[in-house]
Amino acid sequence: MNGIPAPATRAGVAEAWGLSPQARFAHLGNGLINRTLLVTDDGRRRVLQCLNTHVFRDPALVMRNCHAVTAHLGRERAAGRYGYSVLELVPTLAGEPAAVLDDGTWWRMYDHVPDTRTHETADTPATAFEAGRGFGAFAAALTSLGPDAVGEVIPHFHDPVRRFDAFRKALDDDRAGRATEAKATCNAALAFADVLPHWRSLREQGLAWRVTHNDCKLNNLLFDASGHAVCVIDLDTVMPGSVLFDFGDMCRTMLSPVPEDSIELDRVVVRHDYFEALARGYVEGSGEMLTALERDNLAFAARLIVGVIGLRFLTDYLDGDRYFRIAHPTHNLERARNQFALYAALTRDADALQALVP
Ligand SMILES: Nc1ncnc2c1ncn2[C@@H]1O[C@H](COP(=O)(O)OP(=O)(O)OP(=O)(O)O)[C@@H](O)[C@H]1O
Ligand SMILES: [Mg+2]
Repeated sequence: MNGIPAPATRAGVAEAWGLSPQARFAHLGNGLINRTLLVTDDGRRRVLQCLNTHVFRDPALVMRNCHAVTAHLGRERAAGRYGYSVLELVPTLAGEPAAVLDDGTWWRMYDHVPDTRTHETADTPATAFEAGRGFGAFAAALTSLGPDAVGEVIPHFHDPVRRFDAFRKALDDDRAGRATEAKATCNAALAFADVLPHWRSLREQGLAWRVTHNDCKLNNLLFDASGHAVCVIDLDTVMPGSVLFDFGDMCRTMLSPVPEDSIELDRVVVRHDYFEALARGYVEGSGEMLTALERDNLAFAARLIVGVIGLRFLTDYLDGDRYFRIAHPTHNLERARNQFALYAALTRDADALQALVP
């Protein structure tokens, strides 16, 4: 799936964007969702992506969202209110944000941001600070856009109540006959019910609904050679939501020293110095944006999102591995065990972590 596209695809793309016969295509990056290529033509480099229409059922909506966000960020940057680079969509010759080829595939093009790299893991608190600052500035720059400017590309994506209900249904149905083997992890997951009353009370207290990124993994941020964040990428899941989703996801991917599928559960701990750096970066980057309700719940956000992703891995395991790509039969169960170990550590440390938020 990640090879160089077939001649018919290259011809379709070349026609849509007016590429020369000399255009060269190469595989780019470690993305898991879309297919990403570097196109070099006439001395210019561009990033060409084939949208994954199994994940994104409404690709036209994804492209409208990407266009709304990049256009708005471009205006904020021009006005001196956003200090980071902005992804630039390259329209087709027909002026469209994407090309639909004869085989039904959706393709879009961004300018390549030069001299940058991504990090798969945060190896120093300074990287966590940069990530927090970059994603914080991104969220703040989008406050003037308003949540109605983008559509819900994956409905109820981070909704903790729906994810918990889906888990309970999967446990009841037990369609793959795995509930007994997963019993201890399912019991840990049932304890996620503890956070739902607080989540509901946040909504009732008027938790801000904003334009959020919804996939704030470290590798969705481009860094320069000196370790500074340069540009937020991967805008496909931009939707209306809470900044707690984004901050929680950053915690999920940066606080533990081991990967999300590590089976060394005694190594799944919360690195407080990374949390402190992340929170400091987020607060600095987002300027005046955070309400008291949001700020006071940043440690809670980590529990919330780690629990939600744990539920999703476990639900998928109980359903027979229909969503997440697995490398071996118990992969989703191991991921769920890891996330609930992290959830337990975050629950234990919640007050100490929140005290680190500036
Ligand atoms: N405009 C760009 N300039 C430079 N590199 C880029 C650009 N866009 C994407 N990349 C590279 O391509 C990789 C994949 O891009 P992207 O994150 O958009 O794909 P994805 O499949 O949606 O990823 P994910 O698995 O995170 O959902 C990035 O990690 C980065 O290395
Ligand atoms: Mg990505």
